[in-house]
Amino acid sequence: MDGITRIEQALDAALTRAEIPSAPSKLASAMRYAVFPKGARVRPRLCLAAAAACGDDQPALTDAAAASIEFLHCASLIHDDLPCFDDASLRRGKPSVHAAYGERIAVLAGDALIVLAFEQLAYVPCSPERLPAVMRIVGQSVGMPHGIAAGQAWECEPRCDLAEYHEQKTGALFSAATMLGAAAAGADPAPWRAVGANIGLAYQVADDLRDAASDEEELGKPVGKDVTLGRPSAVTQLGIEGAMARLEELVKGAIGAIPDCPGGEALRLLIRSEVKRLVPKRLAAVAA
Ligand code: IPE
Ligand code: IPE
Ligand code: MG
Ligand code: MG
Repeated sequence: MDGITRIEQALDAALTRAEIPSAPSKLASAMRYAVFPKGARVRPRLCLAAAAACGDDQPALTDAAAASIEFLHCASLIHDDLPCFDDASLRRGKPSVHAAYGERIAVLAGDALIVLAFEQLAYVPCSPERLPAVMRIVGQSVGMPHGIAAGQAWECEPRCDLAEYHEQKTGALFSAATMLGAAAAGADPAPWRAVGANIGLAYQVADDLRDAASDEEELGKPVGKDVTLGRPSAVTQLGIEGAMARLEELVKGAIGAIPDCPGGEALRLLIRSEVKRLVPKRLAAVAA
């Protein structure tokens, strides 16, 4: 089975478990709406790639770990789009969850997806001694003091360090993705942290570039939000050229951090193709 099929099946199976007929239908529908149809699924694909590089001897656990990361990501997008955060009414080319279902259901859908990210790990047939490391990595990626919650909270502080903000709001989920792949395969996750962290930082720099130099049609989400909302951004701090240089530096850092392993080459290709996909078309043309 290919990686995307594994990811889609794991996400669907976990959501289906929440969709019993007696459950509140708007919430069930909003949760599915936030997860399908898919975005890039880059985090779960990275998780599978890291697991493959480490032998992937318990694929059911890898799939659940990958689903966990994607549920957390989808929840973070719901909350990020709310009027009290970025006030964005478009996501993945369709109305964002609060625009489609209202704010109250959107808050609950984000909350319920975060809980599901943990809960569904408990149903996997796997070596139980692997679960504590997996749970710890998942928890750290989304919470305090280093996860998404911490990252988003910097927007409410008078001062904010760009690297720390990016590391927490975006990098944490990427380092969790690569570390989880290793942990699910029974390998030491520590050497995989830097791979994911660099990819995550590169990803956020690319997203800042897209916010500044792309359009709504290309992205399927609003552009220009960083300036409108006064968000710290790689483009406002470094300029377009500086941000492009930083992006390349981070990509090299990610590739250089890949531990020596049989799946290393596949991972290098995945990282390069993702970066190519993310750089806004008009900047890619200039850089080429
Ligand atoms: C968007 O992430 C949020 C950022 C961290 C930049 P993605 O660009 O991975 O979003 P989807 O999942 O493809 O929609
Ligand atoms: C990305 O934040 C990280 C999270 C959603 C937690 P952004 O606000 O920069 O991402 P987009 O541009 O809305 O996808
Ligand atoms: Mg935001
Ligand atoms: Mg946003």
